[in-house]
Amino acid sequence: MNICMVGTGYVGLVTGAGLADFGMNVVCVDKDAEKIAALQSGVIPIYEPGLDAIVARNERAGRLRFTTDLKGGIEDSLAIFIAVGTPPRSDGSPDLTFVRQVAEAIALHMNGYKVVVTKSTVPTGTGRMIEQILREKNGRHEFSVVSNPEFLREGSAVSDFLRPDRVVIGANDARAVEVLKEIYSPLYLLETPFLITDVVSAELIKYASNGFLAVKISFINEVARLCELMGADVHAVAKGMGLDKRIGSKFLHPGPGFGGSCFPKDTAAVADLARQQGYAFEIIEATMRVNAATKARMIAKIADTAGPVAGRVAAVLGLSFKPETDDIRESPALSVVADLERAGASVRAFDPAAMANTKALHPDVHYARDAYDCADGADFLVIATEWNEFRALDLSRLAGLLRSKTMIDLRNVYDPDEMREAGWRYAGIGRP
Ligand SMILES: NC(=O)c1ccc[n+]([C@@H]2O[C@H](COP(=O)([O-])OP(=O)(O)OC[C@H]3O[C@@H](n4cnc5c(N)ncnc54)[C@H](O)[C@@H]3O)[C@@H](O)[C@H]2O)c1
Repeated sequence: MNICMVGTGYVGLVTGAGLADFGMNVVCVDKDAEKIAALQSGVIPIYEPGLDAIVARNERAGRLRFTTDLKGGIEDSLAIFIAVGTPPRSDGSPDLTFVRQVAEAIALHMNGYKVVVTKSTVPTGTGRMIEQILREKNGRHEFSVVSNPEFLREGSAVSDFLRPDRVVIGANDARAVEVLKEIYSPLYLLETPFLITDVVSAELIKYASNGFLAVKISFINEVARLCELMGADVHAVAKGMGLDKRIGSKFLHPGPGFGGSCFPKDTAAVADLARQQGYAFEIIEATMRVNAATKARMIAKIADTAGPVAGRVAAVLGLSFKPETDDIRESPALSVVADLERAGASVRAFDPAAMANTKALHPDVHYARDAYDCADGADFLVIATEWNEFRALDLSRLAGLLRSKTMIDLRNVYDPDEMREAGWRYAGIGRP
């Protein structure tokens, strides 16, 4: 089957390559000509473990190609996936301009029956909007509109796509369901749960899932704060909670607040969606406030441990919003950098993948070669993102490079007792 993937970003590129791996003929389209030129010459424009191999394998097999020619992609394909960005507007509502543009292009260029599949995270009602555009602007050809939300996580996107917990197919007609089942047939054979539902419910599943995960993160961050006030250890509390099967241990790791391109945007979108229906989604509203407060609290934690930061040099390890990605969208590490700069500190930083993306936003930061170069001459060290290579740092070498043995570990990578025994002034999150 021929598939057109419109939008070749974190989701579109992984999904396109993954579907090609399932045996589909996939053309990935993007309006960013530079990105497409890079992909055509074998350069993967994002950092995502394992992505280069799956792209190369499927390109070699002739099942995956890249183009800016949206018209050709639409004409040649039965299924057209929309995987463009849906960034937040200032009021929290998602900007659907790109989705609308693609729907209009599909209406203009469709030359027969098409299954239009929304992969982007969109508010409920978007499927109806796409349907209306296709009906009004095309008029001749039949089509189906499907919601097929994506749950992959950056950093493990390839394996998440190839082995998902579930596949959600929201469709209002059986013909479209059959097309989607054929596309995902390798997962069907692996007995991956398929949830077939209507379009609106599928759209809401994605928002409700991300909203719930954001609540879970904010909940443990609140517990961590309480632990700090009471002298308890958040890791013991989280473990005790997580052993209860009704709660589960995942997403109970305290930190400097959630970030990334999904949770902040999707919580704001759920809240906005509810408000538009005249309903206040109180738990989500509280979660957004808790997350903002959690992020804002980090600079005070740094100053409590290291002393006033004005005029001093901070070494910050990690800039991406989580390890194994170069994505810095809404990264809590960057809000730490911004708060340090605002408070008068100068910042040295190192990240294994995200420095190129950060440079334009924070030109005044000194970008280091590695963790040790980052620490060289700094007054204190902040671990802001838990890349694996920061888990086994040579602490005595670091101590020799820093002006004082001070570490603020916003990801609880190190053991507080061991650090204090080794003479460090150390603070983590939610630990005595
Ligand atoms: N990143 C994630 O982890 C993740 C996970 C699940 C769902 N999502 C959702 O998937 C969607 C895409 O996210 P992303 O992170 O891949 O975004 P991204 O910004 O990395 O990629 C979007 C791509 O779409 C392209 N684009 C925009 N308009 C276009 C048009 N008219 N024609 C062709 N290309 C166009 C852009 O140039 C860009 O390359 C969003 O709705 C997001 O919420 C993201």
